[in-house]
Amino acid sequence: MASTIKVCMGSSCFARGNAKNLQTIQNFLESHHLDAEVELTGLRCCDKCSKGPNVTIDDVEYNNVESGMLYDILEKHYQNNSGGENNV
Ligand code: FES
Repeated sequence: MASTIKVCMGSSCFARGNAKNLQTIQNFLESHHLDAEVELTGLRCCDKCSKGPNVTIDDVEYNNVESGMLYDILEKHYQNNSGGENNV
């Protein structure tokens, strides 16, 4: 299962929450043993700062992402994709 998470690392998104969101994603991937399967990349500003912080997971773009909701998004996304048997 190849999967990609793209985190906008432009100064606006970074300052508004993606610094923390990046840590949330890294913690999630480690605790769910997904770090080898999911590619995590940073993006430069994509001119959607007003909707930021922006995170894209497998080509689905999420806007105004806070780290609490991000965790829920990650759980839903990766539990669905892994058959739901990946509970820790
Ligand atoms: S800094 Fe993220 S869209 Fe501009």
